[in-house]
Amino acid sequence: MSISAKHLLSLEKMDPEALRHILAATTELKRDRGRVCARPLAGQTWALIFSKSSTRTRVSFEVGIRELGGQALFLSANEIQIGRGESIKDTARVLGRMIQGAVIRTYAQQDVEEFALYSGIPTINALTDAEHPCQILADVFTFEEKRGPIAGRVVAFLGDGACNVASSWIWAAARLGFELRIAAPRPYQPPADLLRRADAQVRCTDDPVAAVAGADLLYTDVWVSMGKEAEASDRLSLLKDFQLNARLVKEAKPDALVMHCLPAYRGKEIDAATFEANAATIFDEAENRLHTQKAVLSWVVSPD
Ligand code: CP
Ligand code: NVA
Repeated sequence: MSISAKHLLSLEKMDPEALRHILAATTELKRDRGRVCARPLAGQTWALIFSKSSTRTRVSFEVGIRELGGQALFLSANEIQIGRGESIKDTARVLGRMIQGAVIRTYAQQDVEEFALYSGIPTINALTDAEHPCQILADVFTFEEKRGPIAGRVVAFLGDGACNVASSWIWAAARLGFELRIAAPRPYQPPADLLRRADAQVRCTDDPVAAVAGADLLYTDVWVSMGKEAEASDRLSLLKDFQLNARLVKEAKPDALVMHCLPAYRGKEIDAATFEANAATIFDEAENRLHTQKAVLSWVVSPD
């Protein structure tokens, strides 16, 4: 067990100074890509241990690790012994002796935390059912790159307000000081204990027009998150009035940004015309996953 490795396990566990440090480093890494190249992972091998599908997160971490001088090893959880029941604790104790860092995408938040505890190596949450911290770092970076500081602004999240992405937005609001409005039907609003713990400026409503009125950023995510496929038909019917579309965009600030973490399901959480009208922003947001990931990797391996 290590007490010294730095991890990014959730936004809940991050302090504002560390988040600001990562966001500032992202600006430099984006500007300097292909020119000056710090290699803080030189000589290191990092594993990506994924139990769920991924395009952006996997590729941005694999490329980011290489660009920072390290080697990336992709391990599908089904193809290692975890898939046959070996414990996280034993897996962590083995890998901690062979590699220098881990990026984990899985279901239970507890599994990422346990891996970090027993491996003793820097561990990064690449999405769990509870949070998607690296995504929201890239989202905040994208907003600030285009519109300046997010502090004091209004972000409206539409759709599944109880999902991992919405939860990380709640913690970002708590740590970075902006207002978050979540428009979702009652069963998909964030749990009360999470809202109490975060103690942030978060307003939940089942009225999407009220949520987006005068907002600076409109944001949505898939209605059926990975692992929730059995609930698909209930979700599609309960969430249908929470689509991000032109009618709602008109209610936001005239220069409001529209963002989506992707993958997008047109005609569900966002309509095709709204998606395409905002594609430049949405794909900048996707690209920014790479720059942000490199900043996160650099931060976890840096001394305090
Ligand atoms: N937004 C996101 O995390 O995408 P992937 O699932 O493709 O990694
Ligand atoms: N909430 C989504 C995010 C995908 C990047 C999911 O967990 O599937």
